Amino acid sequence: MADPTHTTEAPPAPEQVAMDNLINGYRVTQLLSVAAKLGIADLLADGPEPVEELAKTVDAHADALYRALRALASLGVFAEVAPRRFALTPLADLLRTNHPRSVRALAMFHGEEPYQAWGELRFSLRTGAPAFDHVYQMSHFAYLAQHAEASAVFNRAMSDNTARSVTAVVSAYAFPATGVVVDVGGGHGAFIAAVLRAHPGLHGVLFDQPHVVEGAASTLEEAGVAPRCARLGGDFFVPPLPTGDLYTLRQVIHDWDDEQSLAILRHCVQAMALDSKILVIEALVPPGNEPSPVKFLDLQMLVMNGGRQRTEEDYRRLYAAAGLQLTRVIPTSSVFSIVEGARMAR
Ligand SMILES: C[S@@+](CC[C@H](N)C(=O)[O-])C[C@H]1O[C@@H](n2cnc3c(N)ncnc32)[C@H](O)[C@@H]1O
Repeated sequence: MADPTHTTEAPPAPEQVAMDNLINGYRVTQLLSVAAKLGIADLLADGPEPVEELAKTVDAHADALYRALRALASLGVFAEVAPRRFALTPLADLLRTNHPRSVRALAMFHGEEPYQAWGELRFSLRTGAPAFDHVYQMSHFAYLAQHAEASAVFNRAMSDNTARSVTAVVSAYAFPATGVVVDVGGGHGAFIAAVLRAHPGLHGVLFDQPHVVEGAASTLEEAGVAPRCARLGGDFFVPPLPTGDLYTLRQVIHDWDDEQSLAILRHCVQAMALDSKILVIEALVPPGNEPSPVKFLDLQMLVMNGGRQRTEEDYRRLYAAAGLQLTRVIPTSSVFSIVEGARMAR
C-alpha cells in the first residue's frame, strides 16, 4: 500500500490552482456577502475582537463564523491576529459602512438577487433574455419597486459606486457655468449632487422612479445642493421628460436592450433644446482579449435586465438612430467614459 506521507505527486500546476480558484468563485461571493450583511467589518472598526464576541453580537454559531472568517482571512479579507481573534485588513476595511470607498452594500447585493439570477445563467445564454425575470417572474426594477429592503441596498450600492468614480467623471467634463442639468435615472442623486457642488451656477433635476427619488433628499441635503435640485418622479419610457440644457445618464442605458435604450434617448431628444447636450456615462467594452471588469458587467446586465455594456461604435449607431450626433468620447481616470451627443439638425 502506498505511504500517503511519501507521495511522489508534483504540486498542482499553476493553471490548475488558477482554474480551481475560478471555479470556486461562488463561495467567495457568498462569504463576502454574508460578512457584509452581518456587519463584521463595522464591529472590528475599533480593533480586533474574539470570534466568540462577534458571534454573540451578530447571532451566529461561533465555530461556523470562525471557519468563515478563517477562509476569508486566507484571501486577505480580515486577519486572524491571535487564535480565534480577528482584525481588519485593507480589503476588509472596504466592507465598513462608512468607508469612503465602501463596497458593503455592493457585496450584500451580489449575494442576493444577482446570485439567484446567475444560477440560471443558462437561461440567458439560451434565450438572450434576463435570467432575473425567469427566476422572479418580474423585471429587476419591478422587483425593487415591491421590495423596500432590496431597493435600499441596491440604491446604496449604486450611490457608493458613484462615489468611487464621481470626481474622475465630474472633473473630466467642462460643464457649463449656468443652466439646468437633468440627471435621468439618477438614483439617489450622488452624481447630480457632485455636479452641482462643483458648479455653483448650475441647477439640477433628479429624475427617477417616484419611490427612488423619494429617498434622495438626504444625499442632496448633505451635499448642500438641495435648494438647487428638483426631485421629479416619473417613467423615462413615458414622455415628456423634463426640459434642461444638459442631460446626464449614468449607468442607465446599460440596463436596457437597443430598442428600449433608443426609446429613452429619443425621449431625451424630444425634451432637449436645439443646443442641449447629452452625456451617457458608461464603461465601454474594450476590444480584444484583454482582461476587463466591463466584460463581466456586460453579462451582469444581460442576466439582470437584458441590457448590455457597449462599445463606442455601438453608441455611435444608437445615437444616430435617436437623432443624436456622437460628438466626443471623453475618457476619465475611472472605468467610465463620457459619451457626448448633440441633437442633429432636423
Ligand atoms: C443602474 S441604476 C443607476 C443609478 C444612477 N444613475 C447611478 O449611476 O448611480 C439605474 C436607475 O434607473 C432607474 N430607472 C429604471 N427604470 C426607470 C424608469 N422606467 N424611469 C425612470 N427611472 C428608471 C432606476 O430606478 C435606477 O435608479
